[in-house]
Amino acid sequence: MGGPSRHGGGQPGTVAVVVSKDAARQLAESELAGALPARWQHVQAVAAQAQRLSALPAVVGDLLVAAAWLHDIGYAPDLLDTGFHPIDGGRFLRKLGADDRLACLVAHHSCAVYEARVRGLENVLLAEFPQEASPTYDALVFCDLTTGPAGEPVTYVERMKEIRDRYGPDHEVTRALELSEADLSACCERTLARL
Ligand SMILES: [Fe+2]
Repeated sequence: MGGPSRHGGGQPGTVAVVVSKDAARQLAESELAGALPARWQHVQAVAAQAQRLSALPAVVGDLLVAAAWLHDIGYAPDLLDTGFHPIDGGRFLRKLGADDRLACLVAHHSCAVYEARVRGLENVLLAEFPQEASPTYDALVFCDLTTGPAGEPVTYVERMKEIRDRYGPDHEVTRALELSEADLSACCERTLARL
């Protein structure tokens, strides 16, 4: 079945564990395909977009693709913890022993820190998961924001409008979007400039 593969020795929890692209896909499929089929459609398209961008300059391609497969895994009902999917996904990957950079990318995907703030979870997120600013992070944001909820390709401007319309003006997601929009746009613009 090919779960996360362990490299090196030492005590459990201290070994470096690399989640390969294939293991990431299998993990995402097992948690999302049956439980949340529409979300699974979206995730497959985000991963395909990540694969296309994986050779961009300064992007760590395998990490980007693994993070794309896993970015929404925290929506899986089995993984419910805080109820905030970036943290729940990051914690799940940590418990599996996934490498920390991957867990942190998932925990912070698409500028999650702003929604964490709206939900009163910013301190929890930042205490557990250091934030990464990098071309790989930018590309992950771009892939998520140029893929619609059913996997259709969209521009990031269309995607932000779609999110606003889907959740309505008072929802935490929409309020977070107001706070994060400038950062999200900057991630996308930097990625476009690297294409
Ligand atoms: Fe997503």
